[in-house]
Amino acid sequence: MSAPARVLELANASVLVFPDRVSACDAAAERVAHALRSAVATRGQAILGLATGSTPEPIYAHLVKLHREGTLSFANVATYNLDEYYPISPLDPNSYRSYMHRHLFGAVDLPANRAHVLDGTVPESAAAEHAAQYDRWIAADGGLDFQLLGLGRNGHIGFNEPTDLSAEAAMRLPTRLVDLHPTTRADAAKDFGGESRVIPRALTVGVAPILAARSILVVAFGPNKAESVAQSLRGPITAQVPGSLLQAAPGTVTWILDEAAAQAL
Ligand code: GLP
Repeated sequence: MSAPARVLELANASVLVFPDRVSACDAAAERVAHALRSAVATRGQAILGLATGSTPEPIYAHLVKLHREGTLSFANVATYNLDEYYPISPLDPNSYRSYMHRHLFGAVDLPANRAHVLDGTVPESAAAEHAAQYDRWIAADGGLDFQLLGLGRNGHIGFNEPTDLSAEAAMRLPTRLVDLHPTTRADAAKDFGGESRVIPRALTVGVAPILAARSILVVAFGPNKAESVAQSLRGPITAQVPGSLLQAAPGTVTWILDEAAAQAL
């Protein structure tokens, strides 16, 4: 397993800093694989919360490699993805359903009916009920054993954007339909061929079900993330920086960073 260059132990988080993204993603993938195997060994199944974005792509590639080598099975796994644009067809290449099919679902033995992604095609009148049902499904599966998270440049987790709510109220936010923050829309412009073409709303797993995961792994790379990483780990717990709400998570929280993302810590 790749070794971090340095480890910081903070109040409720372990921060592992790697010299480069390749070794960081190898270590992150090994942690996902370990969480999967130990949940299957102890409970008979693993319930994984998964993330999209550019950061986790090499992590999924590593998991697919382990599966092809015959050392990792998803047969007893259920996955719940964090978010999905709204509205969007699952066939749209920019949908997170299609991202997950390309990077993981299409290459491993995860049962198709256990690979959950919020549905960007539900009528708007049914979106709130669909989101509430997603939370009930996670609860009925026994809650998340493990949540893989990226971090937005503005500190968002999933698509839980900065808000004026109190930290306590933000920590109770359920899965729901949200408006995307201007920074998020700017960052997604490259995928949609221009900022004006970015779908401005999304369904996101709420802060509450994320925080309830028994174990959380946050992965962030590059200098653009340094400020939100530092605010999330060292700053006050505030809904203006959703990543800082992870300081209140009752489960174990691990951060895997490269040196650039760790530079403001
Ligand atoms: C996207 C996703 C998030 C992700 C974040 C970072 O908007 N909805 O779940 O963590 O932005 O993306 P990236 O890894 O591409 O920097």
